[in-house]
Amino acid sequence: MNPKSGCTMHMPVMVSEVLKAFEASPEGWLIDGTFGLGGHSSALLERYPDRRVFGIDLDADSLAMSKGRFQTFNNRALLVNGNYADMTVLAHEAGVEPVGGILLDLGLSSMQLETLGRGFSFRNDEMLDMRYNQSRGVPAAEVVNTFERDQLTNIFLNFGEEKAAKRIAKAVCQNRPILTTGKLAKIVQETVGRRGKSRRHPATKVFQALRIAVNQEFENINKGLSSGLDLLVDRGKFVVLTYHSLEDRIVKQFFKKESLDCICSTRIPFCVCDHQSRLRIVTKKVKIPTLEEVTFNPRSRSAKLRIVEKIA
Ligand SMILES: C[S@@+](CC[C@H](N)C(=O)[O-])C[C@H]1O[C@@H](n2cnc3c(N)ncnc32)[C@H](O)[C@@H]1O
Repeated sequence: MNPKSGCTMHMPVMVSEVLKAFEASPEGWLIDGTFGLGGHSSALLERYPDRRVFGIDLDADSLAMSKGRFQTFNNRALLVNGNYADMTVLAHEAGVEPVGGILLDLGLSSMQLETLGRGFSFRNDEMLDMRYNQSRGVPAAEVVNTFERDQLTNIFLNFGEEKAAKRIAKAVCQNRPILTTGKLAKIVQETVGRRGKSRRHPATKVFQALRIAVNQEFENINKGLSSGLDLLVDRGKFVVLTYHSLEDRIVKQFFKKESLDCICSTRIPFCVCDHQSRLRIVTKKVKIPTLEEVTFNPRSRSAKLRIVEKIA
């Protein structure tokens, strides 16, 4: 556990919708691929006393903080420090089968955002890190201080949809070294200024983009979706919560493609792809939190929930 923790707990999002999604899922394990502090997992174990949960998280601190609390579920919760992109291997090694349902609650937890020493936020001035697993990969400071200007532009543009990506990348390169969240936030703010009446900090998108790059989040989502779909039994449910349009687009496109029997270009008059649908989309219209939940838990305001069912 992080000794510098000024810890805020994480409030799980759209819990009743998540619980309902697994109501009709076939027997077998439920995999919580983004266990965090186990908010969704504990709700699942309470609601479904015959179920077992396999919880995966890249962040060993989060798992350590939850372990004690989960002892009350006896052997119904199995927790592992790993990447949900490797879900098939992790489940196989742990003897987790069959798998009746999978949950991915993407992004980071409030605890990670607000705990000192993690370097995710401009609200505290600290070392730029942003890794979910601080013992692997390179911290955000290394990206900011060593990547070429064009590479940074692409990160800010593609992972943050930041309109001023080019100007910000130039300012970053001119102001190196940048080791802290505070210095980076200040440089972005000085480069783009406050935007209209927006209450969002001008560095929000740059911080999101760096976090995605540092943790290779989009690659993981694609791998995790594919790996999870392989694992699920027939009629198993896959439930995904996203928090911004870029990650939601990846999930939506993956599910759409895997729901089709043909993925040939519309310019080809007949099918040559032999693609077969592997899932049925349950949420024809994406689910969003109620106004009541958003008022109570503002972090839920951008959440989108998608549910699909595996077809063998
Ligand atoms: C939004 S939080 C999940 C919160 C959780 N549902 C709860 O109720 O406490 C997302 C979690 O996913 C973890 N995470 C992010 N990318 C991951 C990956 N590729 N593999 C495993 N865990 C990941 C983060 O460390 C974080 O704890």
